[in-house]
Amino acid sequence: MNLFRRNGAKAAENGHDPDIVIDIRGITKFYQMGDIEVQALRGVDLEIRRGEFVAIMGPSGSGKSTMMNILGALDQPTSGEFFLDGEDVARLSESQLARVRNQKIGFVFQNYNLLKRTTALRQVELPLIYARASERSKRARAALELVGLEKRMDHLPTELSGGQQQRVAIARALVNNPSMILADEATGNLDSRSGTEILQIFQRLNEEQGITVVFVTHDPWIARHTRRLVMLRDGKVVADRPIPRPLVAGEAERPSEMDEMEAVFQDVYYGGDEEEYN
Ligand SMILES: Nc1ncnc2c1ncn2[C@@H]1O[C@H](COP(=O)(O)OP(=O)(O)O)[C@@H](O)[C@H]1O
Ligand SMILES: [Mg+2]
Repeated sequence: MNLFRRNGAKAAENGHDPDIVIDIRGITKFYQMGDIEVQALRGVDLEIRRGEFVAIMGPSGSGKSTMMNILGALDQPTSGEFFLDGEDVARLSESQLARVRNQKIGFVFQNYNLLKRTTALRQVELPLIYARASERSKRARAALELVGLEKRMDHLPTELSGGQQQRVAIARALVNNPSMILADEATGNLDSRSGTEILQIFQRLNEEQGITVVFVTHDPWIARHTRRLVMLRDGKVVADRPIPRPLVAGEAERPSEMDEMEAVFQDVYYGGDEEEYN
């Protein structure tokens, strides 16, 4: 997608590597609760390159939502550096952050966040209207085709299944050619078949279109469909490894949760090189 290139090329002029989408160094996020300071992030470094498919996992309270809010330019870190496409996000004002969100990030939420009385086509056009882009209808149609909804463009959310609604949300997220799609438990509300369809779409967008995808999830089965696992605990990155053999959505049955945990952590605990242990 050429917009990616354009963003990168512009940033390259100030010495930024255009292949790096996310560059986070030593970020912290503290919340003040009366007398108590809650340290939600306690010094996180993270680099995400263009075209990566990353899962961010961690137990409840480990800082995933805080991380997601910062990655999505919804919130600012207390300290540290955050460059998105070479732009120093940690120092932007509210209105500048809003522009970054609209231009560079596509959000996909657990509950789809669609407008009730708005057709699929119109939902997908909205980010283009905010961005004052041209050829809105054409681009929105193309995005809906990418997620296989070309026959449902005039439907309202109530006329669509959960999986179809999430596909509208994905089309809306990618229509602006963002630098990255940020998904928060995107399959969390779906039955396993619809969840698999959504995973297939993300895998296809990542592989065929080179779209950078970051998935925040507590589900190791989902994480095994991505290509890299970043594990948070107590506001710190405790593991950051490639997924040894990413699953192809729809090709494998979901095993028990215990087996799942073991599979995803095999690499983290044993270094991922099976041969050493045979
Ligand atoms: N707005 C807030 N005010 C105070 N504490 C918060 C706030 N948001 C999160 N926290 C605290 O920060 C820590 C990390 O929270 P969070 O990022 O929501 O973790 P996760 O999404 O992994 O469950 C938790 O201890 C949580 O209670
Ligand atoms: Mg959370």
